[in-house]
Amino acid sequence: MNAKEYIESRLEGPKPEIGLILGSGLGVLADEIESPVVIPYKDIPGFPASTVAGHKGQLVIGTLEGRTVLAMQGRFHFYEGYSMDLVTKPVRVMQELGMEKLLVTNAAGGINEAFEAGNLMLITDHINQFGTNPLIGENQDEHGPRFPDMSEAYSRAWGSKAAAAARNRGITLREGVYVGTTGPSYETPAEVRMLRTLGGDAVGMSTVPEVVAAKHGGMEVLGISCISNMAAGILDQPLTHDEVMETTEKVKQDFLTLVKDIISQG
Ligand code: HPA
Repeated sequence: MNAKEYIESRLEGPKPEIGLILGSGLGVLADEIESPVVIPYKDIPGFPASTVAGHKGQLVIGTLEGRTVLAMQGRFHFYEGYSMDLVTKPVRVMQELGMEKLLVTNAAGGINEAFEAGNLMLITDHINQFGTNPLIGENQDEHGPRFPDMSEAYSRAWGSKAAAAARNRGITLREGVYVGTTGPSYETPAEVRMLRTLGGDAVGMSTVPEVVAAKHGGMEVLGISCISNMAAGILDQPLTHDEVMETTEKVKQDFLTLVKDIISQG
């Protein structure tokens, strides 16, 4: 049995419509899914077990705000040593399941000096600084075209709805360009200045591979970053994973409210 067949065999209710990738510290959203079917990654054929602290490593499928969602509580990072094929595998499985929408979230460092730790940011575009691309290799024509268009990687229509939802709730939602790097070391101050010059507003170690695979397969994408810290060199203090987790804990409520509103709109 392959991953898609295994997941289908476990599904009880209607087919999932919206895929959710929950980043560091943001997995709590999956705890709100009703009538959940929980599938640990280690049970899914071809899935590795995720390792980062703060990531549970399971799929949670069920109802959220009246929609059927398939949530990844924890994702696979390139810095864990997984191939790009594995990092993007869950997105491919979503596509095989017929899902057309992907809401991707992450924790990121703020590069834009107008940002503050604890802000949420709508991702308007990204810059791939991984030095590789998940589509390198023979093109899988059943997934999508050899040279996929990336001119609207993050859906403007869906993004406007998200911005309106934030306004209605009085939640500050920044907008900006996400730079994806391999990590796992955080950036140096010089690298942060470089990324700002390149046009980045936030930097993190995920999302870009999954979004490239999602667009290759024709999905509509919405991205939200939780600015868990200001990137290195902006404030006079070292960066720690604990700070990342503490900040995401603080913005959790706004994050949950906003994402649930977005999901309820479909
Ligand atoms: N840099 C890279 N990735 C991150 C950061 C950061 O400052 N914060 C959370 N993820």
